[in-house]
Amino acid sequence: MKYDVMILDIMKGFTIYAIIIFIPGVILTVGLADEFAEEFNSHISIETTTWVYSSSSPTSYADPYFDPMTLSNVTALVGKSAYLNCRVRNLGNKTVSWIRQRDIHILTVGSYVYTTDQRFQTVYHRESDDWTLQIKWVQKRDAGVYECQISTQPILSYFVYLSVVVPTATILGAPDIHVEKGSTINLTCSIKYSADPPAYIFWFHHDEVINYDSSRGGVSVITEKGDVTTSHLLIQNADLADSGKYSCSPSNADVASVRVHVLNGKVFRI
Ligand SMILES: *[C@@H]1O[C@H](CO)[C@@H](O)[C@H](O)[C@H]1NC(C)=O
Ligand SMILES: *[C@@H]1O[C@H](CO)[C@@H](O)[C@H](O)[C@H]1NC(C)=O
Ligand SMILES: *[C@@H]1O[C@H](CO)[C@@H](O)[C@H](O)[C@H]1NC(C)=O
Repeated sequence: MKYDVMILDIMKGFTIYAIIIFIPGVILTVGLADEFAEEFNSHISIETTTWVYSSSSPTSYADPYFDPMTLSNVTALVGKSAYLNCRVRNLGNKTVSWIRQRDIHILTVGSYVYTTDQRFQTVYHRESDDWTLQIKWVQKRDAGVYECQISTQPILSYFVYLSVVVPTATILGAPDIHVEKGSTINLTCSIKYSADPPAYIFWFHHDEVINYDSSRGGVSVITEKGDVTTSHLLIQNADLADSGKYSCSPSNADVASVRVHVLNGKVFRI
């Protein structure tokens, strides 16, 4: 009995302790976060006149500088993430910001995200000194110049060019393919720069969808999905009527076309 009362007393004591210590702690933390935000604000500068293009060596040993190994051209696939690196040595108490040149929009300051576009974030990699700007679900309009800025006086800038590639379809041997009558027409369509394989690929002959169960027979398609997706259209026992335009139309890329010439005799190869 006495033991129970003692535990209750201890718990009561702890509750009071929590009120005295914990709540002011929270207030203090919130206050500090505000101060941090102000600190960041004081580091941003968009006065273009003071910008200096520089990937040069430091003026003195302790000054921040850009590592010359930083890549200045980055290519990303539509729909995937792009990673833009900015490797800064001797940063000290300065901050690294990323700015989009198209509209002089400050994206991030340190690890703090300044844009409402939630696709942007900057991650600092301690082991390599990289301040990596990540752009999620890259779109074509994201292509362009991004500036990595160090908050020195004057400001130091490093420019990274992002190119964005869209899925493209090509047919091997285009624009013209010659085959002998009676042989097999084998058309290969490749879909490159696609974040995911196309959901479907349609083949057309004379702008009409090819029906693999048609009365003609001997028509089949083999598709291999991967980083590069390929689709082979095979037409056995080619006849003169099989000549003409063939097109490959993937769900995620523009149409690619080829002209097939079925010849009533020998095909001369060079
Ligand atoms: C980066 O891309 C630009 C434009 O496409 C080109 O002029 C430049 O030579 C490229 N730089 C490097 C280092 O590849
Ligand atoms: C950064 O450090 C330098 C010297 O180490 C000091 O003079 C300067 O006041 C510091 N700046 C800030 C914003 O703390
Ligand atoms: C069709 O052509 C492609 C590319 O040359 C080749 O890889 C494939 O094996 C061919 N398929 C047939 C059935 O001949």
